[in-house]
Amino acid sequence: MKLFSALLLTALTNLAWAQNKAILHTDQGAVKIDRHIYGHFSEHLGRCIYGGFYVGESNTTIPHTAGVRNDVVDALKKLKVPNLRWPGGCFADTYHWKDGVGPKAKRPTIVNTWWGGVTEDNSFGTHDFLNMCELIGAEPYLAANVGSGTVQELIDWVQYVNFAGESPMSKWRRENGRDKPWNVTYWGVGNETWGCGGNMKPEYYANIYRQYATFMTGWSNESKIFRIASGANSSDYTWTEVLMRDIPLNMLEGVALHHYSVIDWNKKGSATAFTEKQYFQTMQKALFMDELIQRHSTIMDKYDPKKKVALIVDEWGGWYDVEPTTHPGFLFQQNTMRDAVLAGATLNIFHKHSDRVRMANLAQTVNVLQAVVLTQEEKMILTPTYHAMEMYNVHQDATYLPLDLTTGTYTLDGEKLPAISASASKNTAGVVHISLVNIDAKAAQEISIDLRGGKFSAVNGRILTGTNVQEYNSFERPEQIRPATFKGATLKDGILKVTLPKHSVVVLAVK
Ligand code: AHR
Repeated sequence: MKLFSALLLTALTNLAWAQNKAILHTDQGAVKIDRHIYGHFSEHLGRCIYGGFYVGESNTTIPHTAGVRNDVVDALKKLKVPNLRWPGGCFADTYHWKDGVGPKAKRPTIVNTWWGGVTEDNSFGTHDFLNMCELIGAEPYLAANVGSGTVQELIDWVQYVNFAGESPMSKWRRENGRDKPWNVTYWGVGNETWGCGGNMKPEYYANIYRQYATFMTGWSNESKIFRIASGANSSDYTWTEVLMRDIPLNMLEGVALHHYSVIDWNKKGSATAFTEKQYFQTMQKALFMDELIQRHSTIMDKYDPKKKVALIVDEWGGWYDVEPTTHPGFLFQQNTMRDAVLAGATLNIFHKHSDRVRMANLAQTVNVLQAVVLTQEEKMILTPTYHAMEMYNVHQDATYLPLDLTTGTYTLDGEKLPAISASASKNTAGVVHISLVNIDAKAAQEISIDLRGGKFSAVNGRILTGTNVQEYNSFERPEQIRPATFKGATLKDGILKVTLPKHSVVVLAVK
């Protein structure tokens, strides 16, 4: 009986290793993982800008630089945020940038019709945003108003922020206190023009895009203008097809894509009090990103086989019900281990498609949707998503390594998901980083990785997990979820064996 039990245990252990295995080709990398896929998004929505990034220069005891919270800037610097998208979102197509420059007391107020109908005093404008990006060390990504703006307004904006010579707009910029241009590279030409940005048809928008894009060049001496067309809503493949067909390649640098992991738009569910079923459904929606990118890329390949145009996933993330008692229009939600798993798995998908996906923006940075930072008056906490993205930032600008992954399944009510998500890269120092996510909320997973094409003798890493997948950081318990040293990996004869606790995110460094 004892012998039988021992044999059964060995057989089961071997089965677990056999279910999850991978071959990593450490000498076959050909594509760079663009650091810009680690971008973020900041909209005039709820407490993202006001109270989140910006507390103003007077009437506050919160430490700040020109009104921008120092704690948030420090956290985002550590995160290595490569770019930040602003001012929306839906808000962008109602935003007139000239309202947000010049003396603050003289700026007009508007009503933020998309988000809560609140009064916007325009105290945070172009200078505030671009100077804040400089503090963070992030490249700005400006989303221009196409829905209710004009071509002239956009020409003026490009001229205002990028023109080094003498012109009406550069003169105005200087009068407003900024001599040198900011040299903004990334420009979105409208946002969700199929919806809140104007309810346009793709053919109509393609024409409008061509018109706007025509006049955006000529103002930027040092920077190259990178124009991003407002892209498809999730699986609207026709949108991408029409844009790629109707916009000449020399007028287009990027095409956007928006996809949120939402279970049901009418029944999103709580951000914290969710069932395993809801977790499973969120992950189904998140992993759909792989198919989405594949299919949009296939369409792009038809018109752009050399992959000159990037696919820019400039809105992604989990979207749940707002926290009880908070304003429904402010989209404030907590952030749990579910979100860390979602972020890790999504970044692995982006890595895999590095040849086409060269920028992405998680929605949204502070206090809105899948935020990396939450604030409450003078307090600030880092969410599980923050920690996952910080652990992953070792992949920024590293070379993507092909990984042949065979994974077992995570099963619930007869439905299946891959248990493990993984990706790997090699940095300029030759260090290989492997990021692994155990999506399974019930069981640990073991994986064996065959490291081919190099000699490796040491492994170390960090892990992010919690006692349950609903766990989160609160203002009372800000460090419930935080990275810890990982001890579950061994390396022998080029074979890496890793035991991943349930719902965990692990990043390994192999030398
Ligand atoms: O991120 C919140 C909103 O979601 C954005 O404003 C809009 O672009 C999208 O529909």
